[in-house]
Amino acid sequence: MSDTPITKFEGQEIDVSWDERLCIHIGECGKAAGNLFVGSREPWCMPDEVDKAQVREIVERCPSGALSYHDKAGTPEAPLPRNEVMVVYNGPYYLSGDLEIEGVADDMPGLRHRAALCRCGASKNKPFCDNSHAQARFEDPGAVGEQGPGLTAEDGALSVRAMPDGPLKLQGNLTIKSGSGRTAWQGTATALCRCGASANKPFCDGSHRAAGFKSD
Ligand code: SF4
Ligand code: FES
Repeated sequence: MSDTPITKFEGQEIDVSWDERLCIHIGECGKAAGNLFVGSREPWCMPDEVDKAQVREIVERCPSGALSYHDKAGTPEAPLPRNEVMVVYNGPYYLSGDLEIEGVADDMPGLRHRAALCRCGASKNKPFCDNSHAQARFEDPGAVGEQGPGLTAEDGALSVRAMPDGPLKLQGNLTIKSGSGRTAWQGTATALCRCGASANKPFCDGSHRAAGFKSD
């Protein structure tokens, strides 16, 4: 790891930042058409290679919050109009929306809108995913059996608390999408498993106690 975990790429109208603590190398940035991100180039990211709207749109594809931008015209990134958790097939949770993740440092602005959180229990960077699910051979396709009480609105602040040695507690308007992409559950409060042991994934069923889950 370099001296600072955040690398800043300056442009005329917009700067892009990349936080290596959060990147899980999904590749949405590198696969984007155009020359904003070119893996073999130094610097890897050049914000002036595409127009500002494209910079914003491509950065907002990053599911982990590792990428963020500073628009010099002062228009900050706005949350999506619906708070969502996607349960990734054999992988983490992708959160998007108006996120308030407890304990997150102010220098991680991408996490206000996007985050990839561990649900297998194996990450060494909890509550964030670090791709340890692959080595741990975590298997859960992300089916969601419950429908929840429903919603009257889909936006607003979503509070996320990683409970010590326990689940992720979420409060606020929330839609959970299953690993198949289906809108599966809607409600305003739930606890999601992050130990990997629940028999009712993605929801916590208390199995973390018997599993001896340690979040530190
Ligand atoms: S899109 Fe985000 S998480 Fe994926 S490789 Fe790029 S910076 Fe990393
Ligand atoms: S966190 Fe996995 S069962 Fe509670």
